[in-house]
Amino acid sequence: MTTRVFTGLKPTGQLQIGNYLGAIRPVLDLADDPANEVLVCVVDLHALTVDHDPTRLWKLTLELAATLLACGLDPRASLFLQSSVPAHTELSYLLESTAAYGEMTRMVQFKEKSAGRDSVRLSLLTYPALMAADILVHQTEVVPVGDDQQQHLELTTTLARRFNTRYGEVFTVPRAITPVESARIKDLRDPRAKMGKTGSDGAGVIYLRDAPGTIVAKVRRAVTDPDPVLSYDPTARPGIANLAALLGALTRTSAQRALHGLTGAAALKQAVADALVDTLAPIQKRYAELIADPAELQRLLRRGRDAVTPAALRTVTAARHAMGLLEAG
Ligand code: TYM
Repeated sequence: MTTRVFTGLKPTGQLQIGNYLGAIRPVLDLADDPANEVLVCVVDLHALTVDHDPTRLWKLTLELAATLLACGLDPRASLFLQSSVPAHTELSYLLESTAAYGEMTRMVQFKEKSAGRDSVRLSLLTYPALMAADILVHQTEVVPVGDDQQQHLELTTTLARRFNTRYGEVFTVPRAITPVESARIKDLRDPRAKMGKTGSDGAGVIYLRDAPGTIVAKVRRAVTDPDPVLSYDPTARPGIANLAALLGALTRTSAQRALHGLTGAAALKQAVADALVDTLAPIQKRYAELIADPAELQRLLRRGRDAVTPAALRTVTAARHAMGLLEAG
């Protein structure tokens, strides 16, 4: 039996190292096991939940697809665009009809993104239903995500169980997997806040496409503290702890062990910068080739779409039937 693995990434900005360590590398590790069938989705419809510029979205979508492929997804996983598989949106509506308004307004990301705004897109409220549909339509068992998606994953399992109980067993109930060291990489300039694609001015964010010189400069300016003796203490020393977690994740060891043999913040920063450049250089090289060939990118995206569509349609048909919607014939 194969295990179905699914994850999604929004084309709302350049991918940063938190996305890579929190979601992409865990997916690649799972894809190395032939017992897993891995699906990775550019969740372009989710980018419509906040103000957006159509030309920029188009460009970011292509760049995200190229970056994911450059990380090594092809041929280990199916990569596709969410909007190219309409079963996602169809199932989203069916799930909205099992979810309650209060469940959606309780979501922390909804509260954060809607706070203080005059106009909030309705799709921002219903976002978690579409995210649940993304996962459930593919009968997903395992969802590699960073820490910030836990609440959405919990809602997904709630909706799956509720549907199965009320209308019959249609959905596999998924579980999230979150890597220990890299579940929540923090901003280098503000180590109490999550590193994100959007939101900060980028000075504390390592983008996957940052040039080596930029990486070195950003790491050098990371916030630390004056204590020359390195120790891992996320509460008292968040800057050092974040660099240790980053180094641990990049070199596949624990944050504590990553500090062994290093003396002083400057040495830690040097080690982090070296590990980042080593990890990102081959990805950047491959990215340059892929982005220069949009026709090939589109071919790979079509192939992904065609590979995942038949099974997704079967799930939606089963869900429609279970909910009592009559087939026209
Ligand atoms: P998105 O696009 O914001 O982020 C993509 C993935 O990267 C993880 N991540 C991080 N992990 C560790 N440290 C960080 N600083 C960090 N920043 C981001 C996120 O947790 C995520 O796994 N709602 C989702 C996209 C989505 C999705 C899905 C994911 C839509 N449908 C179905 C999984 C399954 C989002 O906004 O991710």
